[in-house]
Amino acid sequence: MTDSTDIRKGLAGVVVDTTAISKVNSETNSLLYYGYPVQDLAAKCSFEQVAYLLWHGDLPTEDQLAEFTRNERSQRALPDNLKSVIDSLPTTSHPMDVVRTAVSVLGANHPKAEDSSREANLDKALSLLAVTPAVIAYDQRRRRGQDLIEPREDLDYSSNFLWMTFGEEPAKEVVDAFNVSMILYAEHSFNASTFTGRVITSTLADLHSAITGAIGALKGPLHGGANEAVMHTFEEITTAAGDSADPGALAAEAEKWLDKALAEKRKIMGFGHRVYKNGDSRVPTMKGALDAMVEYYDRPDMLALYDALESGMGEAKNIKPNLDYPAGPTYHLIGFDTLTFTPLFVAARISGWAAHIMEQNENNALIRPLSEYVGPEQRDVP
Ligand code: COA
Repeated sequence: MTDSTDIRKGLAGVVVDTTAISKVNSETNSLLYYGYPVQDLAAKCSFEQVAYLLWHGDLPTEDQLAEFTRNERSQRALPDNLKSVIDSLPTTSHPMDVVRTAVSVLGANHPKAEDSSREANLDKALSLLAVTPAVIAYDQRRRRGQDLIEPREDLDYSSNFLWMTFGEEPAKEVVDAFNVSMILYAEHSFNASTFTGRVITSTLADLHSAITGAIGALKGPLHGGANEAVMHTFEEITTAAGDSADPGALAAEAEKWLDKALAEKRKIMGFGHRVYKNGDSRVPTMKGALDAMVEYYDRPDMLALYDALESGMGEAKNIKPNLDYPAGPTYHLIGFDTLTFTPLFVAARISGWAAHIMEQNENNALIRPLSEYVGPEQRDVP
C-alpha cells in the first residue's frame, strides 16, 4: 500500500516523463518551444511555422513551409457530413461541445483513423489543424443567424480564420494580434489537456480520440475555459458600472468588485498558475497584442478595467495574470463571441497536442498510476 504522505494531490510537482517539445522555466519565467523563446517566435513567425516546428523539431525551410502551407490551405473546407452534424446541434450548446463533437466526427471520417504511425499522425494532425477554424467560424456565424463562409486559399492561416468568421478581409494589426495569440496558445508542456491527450495515446488509441479527450479537459474554467471566464468578469464589472465607458468609473467599479469577490473567496479567473508563481512568461507578449487592439479599436475603457483588476490582485494577493487574462479581452475586441474564446485556444493547441501525441507514441508506456483505497473494509453483501 502507498504511504499517504507520498500522494501529491493534483500531481503537483510530479515529473511524469521527459519531453523535447517545450520547456517551462518558472524561475526565469521563460517558455521555449524546441529551444526557441516563445516571445521571439511570436515576434518573427507565423502560426504555420510554429506548428511545423512543434511537429518536426525545427523551423521549416522555405520549401518545407511552402509544402506545409499548400497542404494546410487545401484542407480548410468543412466536409458536408460535418456541416450536417453541426447544423443538427442546438445553437444553445457550448461551442466547446461543438468543436469536441466535430473532432470526433473528423476522426470517424479519416481514412487512416486507426493508423498511428508518425506519417499518418502528421497527415491527421495537419488536416485537423486546417479544418478546425472552419468549425469554429461557422459555429459562431450560425449562432448569429449568418451563413457559412468558404475558406480562401490565398490567405494565411490567421487571416483566413478571421475571414471565415467575419466575412471581411482583416486589417494587418488584427491579423498580427491573432497570430501572436495562436503562437502563445500553441504549446505548454504537461498541462491538464496535454496530459489527458498523452494518457489516451498511451492506451494506443488514435490521435482524434486523444484530441477529443484533450478538448474535454481544456473546457474547464481552471484550464482553457478561463479566457471565457475573464470576459464574464469584465461584463459583470461593466454592468455594475452602468455600462459606462469612463475609464475612471470602470477602474473604481473593478476595485469594488474585486474586494467583494475576494471576501467571498472566489477564484479570480485569468490569475494564478500551477507552474509560474512569479508571472506567466506569455503575458507580456499577449499584453502587447491587447494594447495594439485597444489602440486599433480605440477602447481605453478596456485597458482601465484590465489594469485595475491586475493591480488590485497584485496588492491583495500578490497573484499575477496568466495568458488567459490578456487573451480574453483581445478576442472580445476582435469581435469573437465570449463563448468562442476557448475554441480558439483549441485551434492553436491542436499543434501542441499533436506534437505530444506523436512523442508519446514514439516512446510509449501505458500511463496507469495507483491510488490509495480509503473506502470501507471488505464486507458481506446482505
Ligand atoms: N484567485 C484567487 N485566489 C487564487 C487564485 C485566483 N485566481 N489562484 C490562486 N489563488 C490562491 C488560492 O485561493 C490559494 O490560496 P490559499 O492558500 O489561501 O487557499 C493559493 O492561491 C494557491 O492556489 P491553488 O489553487 O492551490 O493553486 P494551484 O496551483 O492549484 O492553482 C490555478 C492554479 C490556475 C488552478 C489557480 O490559480 C486558479 O484557479 N486560477 C484561476 C483560473 C485560471 O485562470 N486558470 C487558467 C490557468 S492558465
